[in-house]
Amino acid sequence: MKKVLVLHGPNLNLLGTREPEIYGYETLEDINTTLYEKAALNGWDIKALQSNHEGVLIDAIHAAREDGTVAIIINPAAYTHTSVALLDALNAFAGKVIEVHLSNVHKREAFRHHSYVSLRADGVIAGLGSQGYVAALEALIRTAERS
Ligand code: DQA
Repeated sequence: MKKVLVLHGPNLNLLGTREPEIYGYETLEDINTTLYEKAALNGWDIKALQSNHEGVLIDAIHAAREDGTVAIIINPAAYTHTSVALLDALNAFAGKVIEVHLSNVHKREAFRHHSYVSLRADGVIAGLGSQGYVAALEALIRTAERS
């Protein structure tokens, strides 16, 4: 069974009530449930984790190096734009990395236009809301089926 780690960065625990006009009305639990269901239908395994702490996200990436995880789907939230440490951790992970943003960060403030994580990501999805996570998982599954 192929294993995917889904990482959600700071403030994403507030989804549904946090600036819903930007981030939508779905909760993090709604998003994770959809991903769990889609993965299970395809015989894949998902572990989802949200943290407001950079080190917790980094530790989870380190653990993914050792436990057979084949890919990471990550919305680093504000750490996207600040965290060299998260980039370094992802650089030490050998599997696929897909970066997801609910909003189209390129349409927003200039400080959101730069992503450290994009320097490592195999794919980047922005602006599709929660569907971005589903698209990321589908792409991983289809790519694995083809190889
Ligand atoms: C975000 C975009 C980031 O700029 C922001 O800090 C977030 C969420 C998104 O999903 O659109 O917290 O990653």
